Order: sequence, then structure tokens, then C-alpha cells
Amino acid sequence: MSFLVHITRPVPEVALEILQAAGCRVTMPTEPGLPDPSELREAVREADGLLSILTEPVTMELLEAAPRLKVVSNMAVGFDNIDVVAATARGIAVCNTPGVLTETTADFTWALLMAVARRLVEGDAMVRAGEFHWWGPKLLMGSDIHGKILGVVGFGKIGQAVARRARGFAMEVLYCGETAPHRSPLGRKVSFEELLERADFVSLHVPYRPSTHHLITGNELRRMKRSAFLINTARGAVVKEDDLVTALTAGEIAGAALDVFEREPEVHPNLLSLDQVVLAPHAASASLETRSLMARMAAENLLACLTGDRPHSIVNPEVLS
Ligand code: GLV
Repeated sequence: MSFLVHITRPVPEVALEILQAAGCRVTMPTEPGLPDPSELREAVREADGLLSILTEPVTMELLEAAPRLKVVSNMAVGFDNIDVVAATARGIAVCNTPGVLTETTADFTWALLMAVARRLVEGDAMVRAGEFHWWGPKLLMGSDIHGKILGVVGFGKIGQAVARRARGFAMEVLYCGETAPHRSPLGRKVSFEELLERADFVSLHVPYRPSTHHLITGNELRRMKRSAFLINTARGAVVKEDDLVTALTAGEIAGAALDVFEREPEVHPNLLSLDQVVLAPHAASASLETRSLMARMAAENLLACLTGDRPHSIVNPEVLS
């Protein structure tokens, strides 16, 4: 039987190859930009499967426009872009891609942490602008990383992979999180408050859900050391961006490195002019190898749900029974 699958954005070719080799007819836009919601509704009208990207809201309205839909397979570990309740009510499976992006996201978290602590982006801009006129003992002094305290908020796969890397820097690791294990060889579990107060680097690794919306506001930022840095590779709205701008401007924390934003792809205009901030375009899993693995897993999840096999990862397994 030939299934119709719509992919919301151009993805690594391996996804197409897998779906087409299984006999699916695949539609996919050729332009990389955000699809227009009405075009997306039209594109899913006859679709049996939807391979979605984390920036595309898969709303009740979109699901209603797709009466044949059996599966929404997100090419992401997060699935806060999908109305899972509405999908489940319609018997539509929702899949995600955990695991394959863990190490790559942890690598990038460290890239951000090191860039902001050692003022790498400022230095790069200075050299490119032809402003490196002399070396001076006080030029671009940043903050040490080795021997400091890393605070990991959310101690799932990615949080633990970030903590593991801290060993090489002889750092003490504190962690917290609702579902975090009580003991770990990677660090010590503490309260959220203690972590904020003691850590030199606070790195966020919680999923986005109502309970983590604005987990970090002005109150939490004021608890942090004035010399501390905030790193966010989780979801933008975990941090109240207005409060972060206020705290950075007032010197309440030393800096921030952000891969995600509250109103992505919009970035708070005041963040753009702050030197002590490193900004990235939601790129933590963006390595050639990992994006290909994510595309493969998303395609395999989708096919499994269409053919009655068990997918690698399903968010609402109740629809399978
Ligand atoms: C990226 O943000 C993901 O959820 O995979």
C-alpha cells in the first residue's frame, strides 16, 4: 500500500530515501523557510503521515485538516510544538528523536559556555574589525572555567552528557530536576535554589512544559552570583527574556549564552547589543552526522507507525493499543 507523507521542510536526504524506498509518495517544499499555515493545511489534506520540524506548530486545526493522518513524527527530541492531547484524541501517534542528539547537544552547550566565559565572540569581532592594534595584559579578560562549579538544571540524557564533560575541567557539578536521580557519579543533587546560588555556570536542560515556563525569571537571576553565566540550549520560554535582559543590563549576572529564544526566531532587540551575550540560531544539534541520524529516526518512526511496527520513540504509546 502506498502512503502519502508530507515533510514540512527540506530535511537530510536520508529521510526521503527511507520513505521512498518503502513505497511512500513524499511531498516536501523546496524552500527552507517557514511554511505558510494555510499551505501546510492544504499539504496535509490527503496525508497519512507528517514529518514535522520543531518550529511548525502542529495544532488541533492542522490535525483537523488531515482526516487520514496516522502519525506526526517530529524531527526533534522536544515536541512542545505539537498538540499531543489533540493528536491522541484522534488516535494519531506522535513520535520524537531522543538519544541520537544527546552528545552533539552537550558538545554545543560547552561551545556556548566556553565562548561566553572566554569572550570568544567579542575577540573574533575585534580581530575581524581590524581593532586588534596591540596585545595588552588586560585585553579581553574573561572568566576561568576549570575548577569552577557547573549547575545542571534538568538531569536527563543531555544534562548528564553536559555534566560528564565537566570532569575534564576539574569542575564540581551540582544538578537538580524533578525526575533527576538522587545519586549520580557525575555530581551532587541539590535544590534548585542552592544550585542557583552556588553555580558559576547554570545550564538549562529541562523540557518545555507548563511547569518549566519561565522557570528562570528575575527572582532566579538575582539568586545567581554576579559572576555567574546562564546557558540555555533547552527552550527559549524556560527563561523570561525581558527579565534576563534586565539582569544582564544591571550586572546581576556576568553573561548568558543562548541557543533558544522566547519568541523564536525573533530575538529580544536588547540582547543584540550586549557584549556579554553569545547568541546562536537554535543550532545545538546541527552537526551533519546528528541531523542525518535525526532525519533517519524520524522517517523510521513514521514508517513504523504507518505499517503497524513499534517506532523507536513514541510520545503517546496509548494510541498503539
Ligand atoms: C531541538 O531543540 C530538539 O528538540 O531536538
